[in-house]
Amino acid sequence: MDSYVIKGRNPLYGRVEISGAKNAAVAIIPACILSDGECKIENVPYIKDTSLIAHIIKDMGADVRVEGKSSITVEPSGIVNPVPSYDLVRNMRASYYLLGALLGKFKQAEVAMPGGCNFGVRPVDQHLKGFEALGAECICNGDIIRVKADKLVGAHIYFDVISVGATINVMLAAVKAEGMTIIENAAREPHIVDVANFLNSMGANIRGAGTDVIKIKGVQKLHGVTYSVIPDQIEAGTYMTAVAATGGDVLIDNVIPKHLESITAKLREIGVEITEYDEAVRVTCNKRIHKCNIKTMPHPGFPTDMQPQFAALLSIADGTSVIEENVWNSRFQYINELCRFGAKATVDVRKAIIEGRDGLVGATVHATDLRAGAAMIIAALAAEGVSVVEDVNHIERGYEDIVNKLRNIGADIRRRSDDMPAVFTA
Ligand code: EPZ
Repeated sequence: MDSYVIKGRNPLYGRVEISGAKNAAVAIIPACILSDGECKIENVPYIKDTSLIAHIIKDMGADVRVEGKSSITVEPSGIVNPVPSYDLVRNMRASYYLLGALLGKFKQAEVAMPGGCNFGVRPVDQHLKGFEALGAECICNGDIIRVKADKLVGAHIYFDVISVGATINVMLAAVKAEGMTIIENAAREPHIVDVANFLNSMGANIRGAGTDVIKIKGVQKLHGVTYSVIPDQIEAGTYMTAVAATGGDVLIDNVIPKHLESITAKLREIGVEITEYDEAVRVTCNKRIHKCNIKTMPHPGFPTDMQPQFAALLSIADGTSVIEENVWNSRFQYINELCRFGAKATVDVRKAIIEGRDGLVGATVHATDLRAGAAMIIAALAAEGVSVVEDVNHIERGYEDIVNKLRNIGADIRRRSDDMPAVFTA
């Protein structure tokens, strides 16, 4: 269990470059399985989740090579058995994209129920609803999901719940199905558009991604392609929130400002100055932020993946804020850790009430999941004194080179290995 040691109260100044979007890359990499040629994916964030999903398809027989700083090539013809390693798959939620990709390519797949962050139940019923509508038989046996179809035929699918994963997974399964598939009540996140653009660049025929109705006309073949992943809106939002928490003036470079609109709007609402450029935003903050209320919603609403980071920020606002989590059943486990910094926050089922304090104090805390870990870093950066954030493996699943990126804009942060020295050496 490794940790970050952070000395707080340093204002942040300078420039930070945003990496490729985790939640696009973890879908695009398995989507390469659908190709009949080699794919080169650029702007891939080098994080644990992309490394793991690439390792899984390499373990299945694909030729996967790292090319330069943030590119990989995938040549999938070596994959003959649509059953990824049980042990590898169980470690990451996004491994469920293997179901859609393998079903779309081989008309069968067998994948262990995915792991991932531990906030509430993470069902896959909408994924299976979509696969069954396309003609697949889905069998759940303990923590193994098996899907199989003699043939896949386009269908009209109306999701009961807006689901990023189910929307992408059904796209993957439908791109080579016979005829037209229509997905209604589809999720609209930027990474869904990115996956659709990737598939279309391979020769797929997908229209409407980014709206709540996506139409997919099945094609026979998908060819290799070179494709660059979009920048990560949540990584960008996390750094924007950190500047608001510490004060300072930072250029957040390599972003798509439109993808940040709800985050930018909320930061402006609480008094943070945001200047938008073509591919960057500048965040300036030199006074105490105001309180606000937040309701997380599917895109284009305020993203749930920014909820913990804003809770940390609002814990030093001038007033009481209310955050309502409308996407996940329970995504406030981190609140107890946040209170160790002296934050005054309480949780009432899907609402967190945060009474702003005029300062936080350093504490030793756990990163309970990826974005909760980011929230702990933000609180530590704002707190007086030294903090220790433990279990940083969660954070490094989704934030590329976060220690150096923060140090380069003035944060006093270092990584510490907490491997306990063995008392009884074997
Ligand atoms: C994706 O998870 C992201 N993960 C999550 O980001 C993000 O929080 C979430 O979308 C919402 O934006 C990846 O992209 C790898 P959902 P996903 O299916 O696809 C319910 C991060 O921090 N639901 O959109 O698993 C579900 O319980 C991670 O990067 C069903 O009921 O989320 C939840 O309440 C954390 N049945 C809601 O829908 C289903 O079959 C949204 O889930 C599927 C989902």
